[in-house]
Amino acid sequence: MASMLELKNVHAGYGEFRVLHGVNMRVDKGEIVALVGPNGAGKTTTLRTILNMTTRYEGEIKFQGRDITRIPTHKIVEEGITMVPEGRGIFNPLTVYENLLAGAYTKRAQEKIEDSLEFVFSLFPRLKERKNQIAGTLSGGEAQMLAIARALMARPTLLMFDEPSLGLAPKIVLEVFDVVVKLRDSGVTVLIVEQHVKNSLEVADRAYVMEMGQIVLEGEGKALLKDERLKKAYLII
Ligand SMILES: Nc1ncnc2c1ncn2[C@@H]1O[C@H](COP(=O)(O)OP(=O)(O)OP(=O)(O)O)[C@@H](O)[C@H]1O
Ligand SMILES: [Mg+2]
Repeated sequence: MASMLELKNVHAGYGEFRVLHGVNMRVDKGEIVALVGPNGAGKTTTLRTILNMTTRYEGEIKFQGRDITRIPTHKIVEEGITMVPEGRGIFNPLTVYENLLAGAYTKRAQEKIEDSLEFVFSLFPRLKERKNQIAGTLSGGEAQMLAIARALMARPTLLMFDEPSLGLAPKIVLEVFDVVVKLRDSGVTVLIVEQHVKNSLEVADRAYVMEMGQIVLEGEGKALLKDERLKKAYLII
């Protein structure tokens, strides 16, 4: 079976500053794939490169069998890839409801707004209660849920998370991972970048470890959890 997303020998960075040095990865339909690694390894750059938001020097990225390396970002979103960015990126002055509508900007999403609202409100009942609240006044956990819900409104085939649990209390971190699993079970394919290595490997079907712009280890999530090298590097108990 062809992969949903495939990166082949991808070299990318920012202008003269090279960050990724020959990255090979794939995400298959229906999987949760985790990308973990130390600060500055190039994880966010990888997600941004998939969306054509960096300088790519070499290599190819295919989504559903199609080369997307030269397609502008908004067209890639139309094709079905959405990112929940690091730092959330919700519109603070707007209400919860307005933020959700703003997420449904693709043509594909416009036709399914009612259906999408029902889905995200069932996933996050708290957002339904707070529909008319100004987003800037939400708690950290609620804001993250809104960021995820807003991304879902675009009806992605592939949803990419960049550190969804950053700065959240442990209980909320678990809730975020629960949502990730629920999404996978509802048919959304997930690529997730996370600092919580243990939690991510527990939920991930497969995972990649990135160091200094290269993939240094890959395997099934549960198998990597037991990897001695990884245990030492990330203090997984
Ligand atoms: N817009 C940019 N312009 C220039 N260099 C950048 C830019 N964004 C990131 N970098 C550099 O690229 C390298 C990789 O950064 P990246 O954000 O991809 O790391 P990361 O693995 O996501 O790290 P973290 O876990 O801290 O989020 C870093 O050295 C960073 O300083
Ligand atoms: Mg990052």
